[in-house]
Amino acid sequence: MLNLTLRNIAHKEDFSAQKDVSLRDVTELMNKNGKGVVVTGGASGIGQATAERFLEEGARVVILDRDSDALDKMLHRFPTIEGLVTDIGDPEQVEAAFGKIDRLIPDLEILINNAGISIRHSFLEITPEEWQQVIKVNLNGVFYVAQAAAKKMMNGKGGVILNMGSTNGLVGTPYYADYNATKAGVIELTKSMAIELAPKVRVNAICPGYVMTPMQRAEYTDEMIEKVNSKIPLKRHASPEEVANLFAFLASSQAQYFTGQTFVIDGGEICGGMASR
Ligand SMILES: NC(=O)c1ccc[n+]([C@@H]2O[C@H](COP(=O)([O-])OP(=O)(O)OC[C@H]3O[C@@H](n4cnc5c(N)ncnc54)[C@H](O)[C@@H]3O)[C@@H](O)[C@H]2O)c1
Repeated sequence: MLNLTLRNIAHKEDFSAQKDVSLRDVTELMNKNGKGVVVTGGASGIGQATAERFLEEGARVVILDRDSDALDKMLHRFPTIEGLVTDIGDPEQVEAAFGKIDRLIPDLEILINNAGISIRHSFLEITPEEWQQVIKVNLNGVFYVAQAAAKKMMNGKGGVILNMGSTNGLVGTPYYADYNATKAGVIELTKSMAIELAPKVRVNAICPGYVMTPMQRAEYTDEMIEKVNSKIPLKRHASPEEVANLFAFLASSQAQYFTGQTFVIDGGEICGGMASR
């Protein structure tokens, strides 16, 4: 019955005939059955929305986050989510976490490699310590987690790795040179991983533009939001849930022919180059 439904909704003509079936229904069906999902940085913002989304879809979710207070709050709200306090920039902590993940979700199938940090400063003022700090999390950490997950997936049933990039990794943006360099690195890492890990593991990068996370909102005045929104063709920020939707789709078998790609979700921000600035 389930297979029949999926075949029907995947077929174009039947899909248009079934007006009550949304893309969300499709990914929900695909991600159900208790799939094992690891979300890094899942205690806040986009990672939190994504952990919630996979949980709603019936997945078994493990969050790796270094912020123990935020993680505790998340686990209190969602007692079926598992959490491991982990600094992804420390290879020993990542190794220890993946040792425990074996017990929590022996059949890890999806990695949302999301945790990242940014520091606003001009290029001329970046200190070597700040540079190292950003590289340590956004590039080294993404690599440590991706490699640990890929080893499990290659030894198991295969899987999907989704690395968090940014439009900052695709176009030049002032005051974030270190961050931009790491996100460009994540995009290239994704392509190289996709080639080596195919056909067993699919690997894609996601590049959001402006996303209105609670912390981001707290930093903005209403005027600042209006100014940024006016430059975006769709005239608003993305919500964390919209980015979670993209993760859910790319992790599902509806996306099984996508690998090595970079998916931009930015309301049209960078499509016009200078025209949209
Ligand atoms: N918010 C945006 O506008 C936006 C746009 C494009 C890309 N991104 C990317 O999305 C990702 C999530 O961003 P967000 O806005 O949700 O941020 P956020 O600060 O709300 O959440 C990030 C989470 O990652 C965790 N984290 C940070 N460093 C860590 C480490 N070393 N080890 C483990 N956990 C760590 C934090 O504790 C936090 O829970 C980041 O990679 C960011 O670069 C965000």
